[in-house]
Amino acid sequence: MSKKVQFASKIGVIAATAGSAVGLGNVWRFPAEVQSNGGAAFLIVYIGCVLLLGIPVMLSEFALGRAGHSDAVGAFVNLKSGKGWRGVGALAVLTSYLILCFYMVVAGWTLEYFIESLTGDLYTGAVQGGGAMRQQFAGKMDDYIVDSVNPLVYTFLMIVMNLSVLLLGVQKGIERISNIAMPLLFVILLAFVAFSLTLSGAPQGLAYFLNPDFSKIDAGVVVNALGQAFFSLSLGMGILITYSAYYPKSTNLLRTSLTVSLLDMLVAIMVGLIIFPAVTTFGLQGEGLRGATLVFVTLPEVFAQMPLTQLWSVLFFLLLLVATLTSTISISEVAVLFIIDRFNVRRRNACLIVMMPLFLLSSACSLSMGAWDGFKILGMNLFDFLDSLTSNLMLPVGSILLCIYMGWFAPKGLFMSQLSNGGTLRSSLYKPVCFIVKYLAPMLIAAVLISSFL
Ligand code: PHE
Repeated sequence: MSKKVQFASKIGVIAATAGSAVGLGNVWRFPAEVQSNGGAAFLIVYIGCVLLLGIPVMLSEFALGRAGHSDAVGAFVNLKSGKGWRGVGALAVLTSYLILCFYMVVAGWTLEYFIESLTGDLYTGAVQGGGAMRQQFAGKMDDYIVDSVNPLVYTFLMIVMNLSVLLLGVQKGIERISNIAMPLLFVILLAFVAFSLTLSGAPQGLAYFLNPDFSKIDAGVVVNALGQAFFSLSLGMGILITYSAYYPKSTNLLRTSLTVSLLDMLVAIMVGLIIFPAVTTFGLQGEGLRGATLVFVTLPEVFAQMPLTQLWSVLFFLLLLVATLTSTISISEVAVLFIIDRFNVRRRNACLIVMMPLFLLSSACSLSMGAWDGFKILGMNLFDFLDSLTSNLMLPVGSILLCIYMGWFAPKGLFMSQLSNGGTLRSSLYKPVCFIVKYLAPMLIAAVLISSFL
């Protein structure tokens, strides 16, 4: 890789990395996990997972990426690791590409809802109150997702949008869009939090979100919290290995990982502060907060009952669009850098090689929920199959192998020297981090992996 490709500023490093971390995971999965796993009790376990395991694993990816200074496979090559370890890099590239195939479809829905909010079509003919309205939005979502044309068109638009940013390169594309997107995201979030806290159901909603019900905590909840932490921090996908190849030598890895994790948790908590008061106020707390239902049915119902319906709806889907775009870009870049470095291809061509097949692959994922839903793999449609294969199996396996590599097989002293920038930085946390990566993280992730199959 050309030595010159680097993020230009410290802010850029944080914005791009946090941009990858903050995504649908925070908005789409987090509230549902909180709701079904004991409110704040889940939050506490989740924060514990981020601090104890998420940050150390993130640091191993950073150290590997910056020292290896290449794509997820090339990093192992440059560090002169055995051939088998390249397979770990290859697994990360494959995992991220599979995730990209279906994540792009969700990105397409987000764009569709953003545009439907702008034009007002989402709310035309919205009947007020109760089950009828719910049915109406649920019906709309079904139409949007199951349809054989619309979702494909919007997914294609998202692919083109990603491609345009990627073609502009690391500094002018990825870094610049992140520098704009992240502040924008926080401003919109703050506006939502401020408004949500004035709603009449705010005290009750907050009480639900912030009162821990420890009786709900069991092994299953810990498994969920860990899975959520890893997905939300973009671990095990090769993304952080790829991005840290663009980190300057002076970047303080520990501080970066702390900042990114805190920002990611902050966004998740702010989303909680928005969602729980809002659904309580409008009596929707009993309804699904899970994934697509929350975002595409329950929240439009909330907006429809609020003053300035269209404004809030546009702002929300803009927020989601921005968060999704910076995530899809980061995950696409894993494959782009892989093609550039492994096959010596120019960036422009690499971007095309990576993004073009998505027109077909993402279409297949989208159609698998409608016209093609007769085609099942292990009883799941293609979309759900890819989702569960990557989240439940490939991501944890990749993370375990990465920890084993960093803890046991990487060149001696590499991890420490990356953490301390060649001995120029000091922190009492370096030793515990190394210990966690060596022993605790692989064992705990393995336990989670095994228990999820029991
Ligand atoms: N951290 C991302 C999220 O929360 C996970 C992700 C990143 C998924 C990139 C896909 C692509 O949504």
